[in-house]
Amino acid sequence: MHAVVVGGTGMIRDVSVFLAGKGYDVTVVARNHQRLNSLVNDTPSAEGSVHPAQVDYHDGDAFLKEMERAISTYGPIQLAVVWIHSTAPEAPYKLASLLDQSIESCDYFHIIGSSVADPSRDSTSGIEGFHRFKNLRYHEVILGFILENDGSRWLTHQEISQGVIDAIHSNRTTSIVGVVKPWSKKP
Ligand SMILES: NC(=O)c1ccc[n+]([C@@H]2O[C@H](COP(=O)([O-])OP(=O)(O)OC[C@H]3O[C@@H](n4cnc5c(N)ncnc54)[C@H](OP(=O)(O)O)[C@@H]3O)[C@@H](O)[C@H]2O)c1
Repeated sequence: MHAVVVGGTGMIRDVSVFLAGKGYDVTVVARNHQRLNSLVNDTPSAEGSVHPAQVDYHDGDAFLKEMERAISTYGPIQLAVVWIHSTAPEAPYKLASLLDQSIESCDYFHIIGSSVADPSRDSTSGIEGFHRFKNLRYHEVILGFILENDGSRWLTHQEISQGVIDAIHSNRTTSIVGVVKPWSKKP
């Protein structure tokens, strides 16, 4: 079983560790060599393994080349967890397009910041752009916020990772970690 976690050394690091614990070969995309190595060292060898894919996803060709290398080494990707900054708007589609060509279908969990839920926006979902990928089961995981003590706060990394793991378990098309309503209460 092969999974890819893009951005898997940051706030969703625990998702990378979780998937390795489930026996996946986990290709983790990030730039920082030390943080990638630290993740490899923190993943017990009796379980699945973490494989660093050190690349900047702003470089579309290098990103795809690295993904192709991972697929040729560890096999078709059945699960993708994708946290990509809006500074690289094409990268989520490039990866989706590559995975869509696979002989095996893939569950694609796209993590999206809370701004997608802003009611003043035209669309409150990122799904539309992924309809064309027929071999992909697209899921969006929207990061919200926590209402507490008459106020609100942003999610912790632990809450974000757990929310993504819950989304993988639930297999829903749309999951919201925390809440996005009422929008006026956003921190
Ligand atoms: N609604 C919410 O609650 C919400 C929503 C979004 C963000 N946040 C918060 O915002 C904070 C900042 O988010 P963040 O995304 O900077 O944190 P992050 O998840 O901690 O780091 C981003 C991840 O993506 C990788 N990455 C970043 N740029 C990359 C690139 N160009 N190419 C390849 N990999 C890249 C990083 O590794 P490298 O740096 O090594 O490349 C890291 O693994 C988080 O701590 C989170 O708590 C909260």
